[in-house]
Amino acid sequence: MGYLAYIRQVLRPHKRRLIIAIIAMLGVTLVGLMSPLLIALIIDKVVGQGRYDLLFPIALILLSLPLLNGVFQAVSDYTVTLLGQRLVFDIRLDLYERVHRLSCRYMQNATTGKLMERLRGDVQQVQNLMTNQTLSLVVQLVCALLSLGLMAYLSIPITSLVLVAAGLYVLNYKFFIKRIRRVQRRYRYKMDHLSSRAQERLTGSIVVKTFGHERQESRAFIRRNFVAERIFHRYRMLNLGYGLCASGVAWGCYLAVLLLGTRAAVMGTLTYGAVTALAAYMWRLLQPAIQLAELSNQIQQAKVSMDRIFELMLAEPDAIGRPGKRLPRLSGEVAFQNVCFQYEPGKPVLKHLNLYVQPGQTVALVGHTGCGKSTIGNLLYRYYEPQAGHLEIDGHDISTLDTRWYRRHLALVPQDPIVFDTTIYHNIAYGRAEATRQEIEQAARAAELGPLLDNLPQGLDTPLGEYGITLSVGERQRMCLARAILADPAILILDEATSSLDTQSETAIQLAMKRLMTNRTCFVIAHRLSTIVNADQIVVMDAGRIMEMGTHHQLMARTDSYYRHLFLTQSSPGPKVKVAS
Ligand SMILES: Nc1ncnc2c1ncn2[C@@H]1O[C@H](COP(=O)(O)OP(=O)(O)OP(=O)(O)O)[C@@H](O)[C@H]1O
Ligand SMILES: [Mg+2]
Repeated sequence: MGYLAYIRQVLRPHKRRLIIAIIAMLGVTLVGLMSPLLIALIIDKVVGQGRYDLLFPIALILLSLPLLNGVFQAVSDYTVTLLGQRLVFDIRLDLYERVHRLSCRYMQNATTGKLMERLRGDVQQVQNLMTNQTLSLVVQLVCALLSLGLMAYLSIPITSLVLVAAGLYVLNYKFFIKRIRRVQRRYRYKMDHLSSRAQERLTGSIVVKTFGHERQESRAFIRRNFVAERIFHRYRMLNLGYGLCASGVAWGCYLAVLLLGTRAAVMGTLTYGAVTALAAYMWRLLQPAIQLAELSNQIQQAKVSMDRIFELMLAEPDAIGRPGKRLPRLSGEVAFQNVCFQYEPGKPVLKHLNLYVQPGQTVALVGHTGCGKSTIGNLLYRYYEPQAGHLEIDGHDISTLDTRWYRRHLALVPQDPIVFDTTIYHNIAYGRAEATRQEIEQAARAAELGPLLDNLPQGLDTPLGEYGITLSVGERQRMCLARAILADPAILILDEATSSLDTQSETAIQLAMKRLMTNRTCFVIAHRLSTIVNADQIVVMDAGRIMEMGTHHQLMARTDSYYRHLFLTQSSPGPKVKVAS
């Protein structure tokens, strides 16, 4: 879809409002063009020819113009604002939905800041293009053409003069605006830099304090501020220069119109009324000239935003949108068949992985950091597609299943527990939206959150995050565990789910974990091997390959097994530390 087609599609539901806005804006323009003509009539007809009978009706029209102008202005402001808000809402919603449907690959490379900027600034720019800029293009053009026509009707030579002045006016604008923008950009860049650095140092103020760098930080802050201030000063000077030159051209032109006009009036080729009208229309031509020149710039900027929005719209979507089948039930049989996967070309993460898991089995994944354990979870969730081989769930190729339906049967307690800025209750309810309060409470207690909840006056309804309490990593892990318990999935992935719990809490949670893991297929990723001794299969991975596989006893029975070595190292008491007396 091209830009124009998109604009048309977005504007279609608001066509009526758009037309009203255009009519009202044209009304404002026409009313504005009336008064010079009426004043010219008063001068020429009433004063010049003594037609006093015309004074009253003309004065009446003249006096009613501000009222008319007010009505048109109000209608136009109201409609344009409303139209703008609706458009921003529509485009933002559309984009927000699309962003959620983008692939993990895209989302992981896109920074949150960039996405937010598109949702905020770029959407605003495009909305501006669709309403303010397009409308003002129409209105300014009409205003300029009408003024020009009226002036040409009154006097061709003076019109030519004003056209030359308008040219100079625009040239002056172009000359300065280029420089002003450059300085503005530099200023904004410096300020961004300044505030992001200040933000970083303030957030990390503990580090500044730890190393006693307060002085250096202040000095660097002053230095940067000083540079920014100098740039701002230049910006003000340029602005001043622009204003002076523009006024010079405009007032020079005004003077020339008056002089030439008066001369023509004295010679009898022009009426005095026409001279005043010409002088008034001159201003009405200069202003649109600048605005039209400015518009091309704004349209250019809006096009950049449009490019960025379209880039999001055309990005690779997540598997969730693709059609697929739903099975009557999911028992949780998983088979990785010769799966090869890489995030980035040339850096294979999983190499010809073969793994079969019966429904209800618990598989433990063990291996060095970076060997691809979490990646297995990513593939199970179908966040990424393997480059070769395939995954089978209950005997069906994962790519033939309806992803939305399939993901509902999975739960993950991630390595990096994420909680949202809302209450504990809603955080847990994220696991299953239709759960009752009792179920949520049970899940929380099963995940050993009971002691925490009992200590909070608001219990489950305690807000978290910016406006509430801050949880420790261990507490957040338990929260994610409660979410998984509530979700009651067929396939459960525990990625270092208890890594941040102390041994005591871990023992307390073991029972809940055991209950959680029965009757479903489980993938347990753990560095602490004591937690996985009861797994049905222990898979030892190294650099994307399976090195060893078997139960705890089988692997321990082999004297040369890496697992045995690792297990013995972890369970040995470690080197004795001599305590100085
Ligand atoms: N989104 C990504 N884009 C590019 N490379 C990635 C991405 N995620 C992981 N990797 C790389 O893939 C490899 C395997 O990562 P993975 O997260 O599966 O390791 P892991 O076994 O879970 O490690 P850990 O025990 O530290 O959690 C690593 O080398 C990592 O750098
Ligand atoms: Mg990991």
